[in-house]
Amino acid sequence: MAAPIGVFDSGYGGLTILKALKEQLPHHDFIYLGDNARAPYGTRSFETVYQYTLEAVNWFFDQGCELVILACNTASAKALRNIQQLDLPKMAPGKRVLGVIRPSSEVLGTYSKTHEVGILGTTGTIQSNSYPIELAKFYPELKVFQQACPMWVPLIENGEFDKPGADYFVVQYLNELFSQSKRIDTVLLACTHYPLLEAKIKAHVPGGVKIIAQGDIIAHSLVKYLQNHPKIDEKCSKNSQMTFFTTDNAETFEKQASLFFGQKIEANHTDLA
Ligand code: DGL
Repeated sequence: MAAPIGVFDSGYGGLTILKALKEQLPHHDFIYLGDNARAPYGTRSFETVYQYTLEAVNWFFDQGCELVILACNTASAKALRNIQQLDLPKMAPGKRVLGVIRPSSEVLGTYSKTHEVGILGTTGTIQSNSYPIELAKFYPELKVFQQACPMWVPLIENGEFDKPGADYFVVQYLNELFSQSKRIDTVLLACTHYPLLEAKIKAHVPGGVKIIAQGDIIAHSLVKYLQNHPKIDEKCSKNSQMTFFTTDNAETFEKQASLFFGQKIEANHTDLA
């Protein structure tokens, strides 16, 4: 039976990806899950993020989903490979789980003229080295500079992203990134929460530097994927419906979610176990 596409994040960040997915695939159904009760993932260990993400993937499969997008860089960095290589073949060989790091890496090099790019992400994403590894496959000549921004997700999740206090931490991490090289001309927001800080980031980067958010990249890549995998696309239901779940309080989720998604939503609570 056809089912919605699952979209997962540790909390609200994946909604910035879902927004773009909905624009590119308006007829497809989506089911969103934010693991808000256990967010943030960014500073958690490999084992913990893998365990939490696997539980979420299983939850989507219980809802009937055939395709799940990990709309979270941290989960993509720490859990995707194990899930694809070890768990899926045993658990559900016909189902698919995709992440955000490969599609972002595939196109990032095309934006840079100096062949020097910056990656801003959570501590987990940066320490995993997933971006330099993936980017080297597509752009062996590209110089990749990384900076972890551990204060940004808490600022965003606590509604401080547009307040003056946020500038301090935006400037701090940008300075640390650009102190590694003045030739960086393209910066990837490699955390799905960061688009909420985009205005402040743009205000503080050196002139001419491009700031790249992931929403449109992931959406275009999913459109291409479904065209290339018509059998998977056939298993995706298309009634233009979206449903939202959180592992924390549904009312709180509804209030915060509109900031990330750009429109009001109705949310439901779920436990993963
Ligand atoms: N939005 C997630 C990402 O893209 C991270 C948020 C978190 O730290 O939980 O990495």
